[in-house]
Amino acid sequence: MGQPTQAPSGRIDDAWWRSAVIYQVYVRSFADGDGDGTGDLAGVRSRLPYLAELGVDALWFNPWYVSPMKDGGYDVADYRAVHPAFGTLAEAEKLIAEARELGIRTIVDIVPNHVSDQHPWFRAARAGGPERDLFHFRPGRGAHGELPPNNWTSEFGGPAWTRLEDGSWYLHLFAPEQPDLNWEHPAVRQEHEDILRFWFERGVAGVRIDSAALLAKDPRLPDVTEGQSPHPYLDRDELHDVYRSWRRVADEYGAVFVGEVWLPDSERFARYLRPDELHTAFNFAFMTCPWDAVRLRGVIDSTLAEHAPVGAPATWVLCNHDITRTVTRYGRADTGFDFAAKAFDTPTDLALGTRRARAAALLSLALPGAVYVYQGEELGLPEADIPRDRIEDPMHFRSGGTDPGRDGCRVPLPWTADAPYAGFGSREEPWLPQPEGWAAYAVDRQTDDPGSMLTLYRRAIRLRRGFGEAPLAWLPAPEGVLAFTRGTEVTCVVNLAAEPAEMPAHSGLLLASGPLHDDGRLPQDTAVWLRP
Ligand code: NOJ
Repeated sequence: MGQPTQAPSGRIDDAWWRSAVIYQVYVRSFADGDGDGTGDLAGVRSRLPYLAELGVDALWFNPWYVSPMKDGGYDVADYRAVHPAFGTLAEAEKLIAEARELGIRTIVDIVPNHVSDQHPWFRAARAGGPERDLFHFRPGRGAHGELPPNNWTSEFGGPAWTRLEDGSWYLHLFAPEQPDLNWEHPAVRQEHEDILRFWFERGVAGVRIDSAALLAKDPRLPDVTEGQSPHPYLDRDELHDVYRSWRRVADEYGAVFVGEVWLPDSERFARYLRPDELHTAFNFAFMTCPWDAVRLRGVIDSTLAEHAPVGAPATWVLCNHDITRTVTRYGRADTGFDFAAKAFDTPTDLALGTRRARAAALLSLALPGAVYVYQGEELGLPEADIPRDRIEDPMHFRSGGTDPGRDGCRVPLPWTADAPYAGFGSREEPWLPQPEGWAAYAVDRQTDDPGSMLTLYRRAIRLRRGFGEAPLAWLPAPEGVLAFTRGTEVTCVVNLAAEPAEMPAHSGLLLASGPLHDDGRLPQDTAVWLRP
């Protein structure tokens, strides 16, 4: 990826990431090459033609490293080796090269906030070595040190501290098996820059940064209090120095970053995207926005407004491996997303959700910037109900069993309707059970079906290439309808109102998310792309 490549248009394609479609691969559930029930790199390699046909520009892989899998691989024990269930480093190198030959770039996931408790650093720290300084170890409070050092809570629920046999406590903002690193320590910074180089040397074009706003901690580790600023561990100013230094490494390779930055304050969010920091960050405001025209327009406007001053492209995300799948979310009474509101047995109208998800696909793919597609979104997969005894996600367990967790969006993909396990693998049952009816979503069922979700995504991704970086301009539209143009290429209209909507003047229909009324009006929960 070091050198810019020549795009078909003749333009030097070194800014591919500004308008890319990036497909998220959750390796464990994508395709099972060796039939053992767990997805792997062999499976991904065998499906590269599918991804090329879909038309995506890059693949973002969730962590594929050696890991005890206490949090789906976000507990990394060795950043320089591939999990044996997924394959080998040599195979990852082959995959990166083969994808690149098909015009598809690779983005890997780096998890700098924490490591696995099985990482050599933590094993040494646990044994009492000087490696303790690489983590946050503190004595407990209370007469006998029996209370956690402060009041911080884990993102997965419960205290953010675990006590070792020797009485000391260590910090983990996620599961106890994910001890937080001490970013004040120079060895932690050095190690991560080395890891970045390790993967850039292997041809990866970008890095997704996990929990990007959590790394820096107030060294005093004070209690968190309501509304405190600066916060003791979220979005601290010191972080920007870390990312400026990462950026210098990435620039040597022409590689790019996408940060997982969850922040409500858009001005603070945009700081991460200054020209010498991260190239892009995920748009969680859009991802969690309810299916409502006023709210969506508000998020689109504020997204574009916050990115403009720093010159960074926006990203558009409808779902990922952490949140309820799109067709399910849009088929519920609450169409937004909030981790705290997740519950078992939430009533869902999948037909309604699917109609809206189709319209949302055309909306997001028409917006200026980069779009992320989470595996299975292009198949319209719903969130699955996982039997309680098969749930693996720590979020479920740390909620005391009230939160169904995130496994419902991580179910192995259906490829071939009539094959065992819908063609995901062959011999062994997949690591998470596929629900009844899963085969109906299989790729082979959808491939030649003009009305399928897959066909919609394929067509939209192809057409979208023509939109380039043309800016968005809103058109006048009735209440509940979103209408905008992207230069002279496309007019996108999305009807979220209860009534059918008139369409603006246009010279042709490029694509519709569903059937139109005979009189040409746009039905509810439907989107179209028109030739202006
Ligand atoms: C965000 C990741 O997307 C999620 O899956 C993970 O559990 C946490 N970070 C902790 O690494």
